Amino acid sequence: MFDVYKIRKDFPMLDDKNGTRKVPIYLDNAATTFKPYSVIEATSKYYLEDSANAHRGDYDLAFKVDTEVDRCRANVAKFLNANKTEIVFTSGCSMSMNLVAYGYGVKHLKAGDEILLTEAEHASNVLPWFKVAEMTGAIIKYIPLTQEGRLTSENLKKVMTKNTKVVSVAQVTNVLGFINDIKSLAKIAHEGGAILVCDAAQSAPHIKIDVKDLDCDFLAFSGHKMCGPTGIGVLYGKFDLLKKVEPFMTGGGDNARFDMCGNVAYLEPPAKFEAGTMNLAGIYGLDAAITYLSKIGMDNIEKYEEELHDYAISKLKTIDNLIIYNPTADTGIITVNVKGVFAQDEASYLNSKNICVRSGEHCAKLLKDVLKTVATVRISLYFYNTKEEIDALYEALKNGGNFLDAYFS
Ligand SMILES: Cc1ncc(COP(=O)(O)O)c(C=O)c1O
Repeated sequence: MFDVYKIRKDFPMLDDKNGTRKVPIYLDNAATTFKPYSVIEATSKYYLEDSANAHRGDYDLAFKVDTEVDRCRANVAKFLNANKTEIVFTSGCSMSMNLVAYGYGVKHLKAGDEILLTEAEHASNVLPWFKVAEMTGAIIKYIPLTQEGRLTSENLKKVMTKNTKVVSVAQVTNVLGFINDIKSLAKIAHEGGAILVCDAAQSAPHIKIDVKDLDCDFLAFSGHKMCGPTGIGVLYGKFDLLKKVEPFMTGGGDNARFDMCGNVAYLEPPAKFEAGTMNLAGIYGLDAAITYLSKIGMDNIEKYEEELHDYAISKLKTIDNLIIYNPTADTGIITVNVKGVFAQDEASYLNSKNICVRSGEHCAKLLKDVLKTVATVRISLYFYNTKEEIDALYEALKNGGNFLDAYFS
């Protein structure tokens, strides 16, 4: 049984320490999430008990770390329904996307090839492709969104050409919170001879992912947005495609041998992409986060967040001077503006009420043409948020239009 009040006890950031600590109403979960004790303990365990490097030592302690990293990788693979050899540890979603862009895009694209994105993408799924275009002569094109801001299979079909080589889109967009049908988009991409790259930064924390079922070619996400530590992320890639990816970072641990003439024999994936000492404590923590989320159940998380989202929308809809840009979002992302109040001012006002939200462009800087506004306030929910927190948000936003009066009252 999903019990949010029981779950909240797992998070030190949500502990008021018998009334001696102010617990924030944290509604900025799309930026990063709180960590449960189990994740903090797993991260500390690396430093307290297992501090040795991986894949380098010939002693028991180093072997223990090797075994743990291998087990963590298997746990990530199970979470995604992938094979262990298809899981690359990175520093986060941004690094994973850059690895695909530089390692696959720069290597395999040529002048005139087309890369399809949308205006709803995060900078980490736009700027690396700009670089690929700059370096190869490939062309960036945008799949038109519906008026609501959704990506549809029909619109992808309309822009696919024989030159389309990459379709790179988010599974859940970080401002509008719509779930894109990756399975159907991947099918269309494949029929046209392109690969499908999935930015799962905002989906992996919230919905069940099965990469075999989605049939995406690459999928990227960050640990810190799903209760894990910062500085650790994952790139999933189909093994045959990973073999075709050039390592964009090279160094110790990724090769079998090299010589003075510059000949290098790289290891097989994933080691080929894991040069240098990895974020081992981060890997321990990500493993614990995945175990924690899996224990609660991704289906339960998705269902609870949907319930919370619907509750929030039903309340916020009653505020006359509130513009909700995505009332039909499929996840817990609610993007708003209070009429006549600049988004950053509204966020500062909410901060005065102990409510944490994000304001601005949220790294999706192409979306302003779709939203027809430069800045918005983004409320993003996670499974540890409560209806009481939504009530507090509602009360604060009700007064938010009369901004200055409310701020100084
Ligand atoms: C959709 C999306 N993609 C990529 C990223 C980049 O994630 P990170 O900053 O953890 O690398 C984010 C972060 O907000 C995001 O929302």
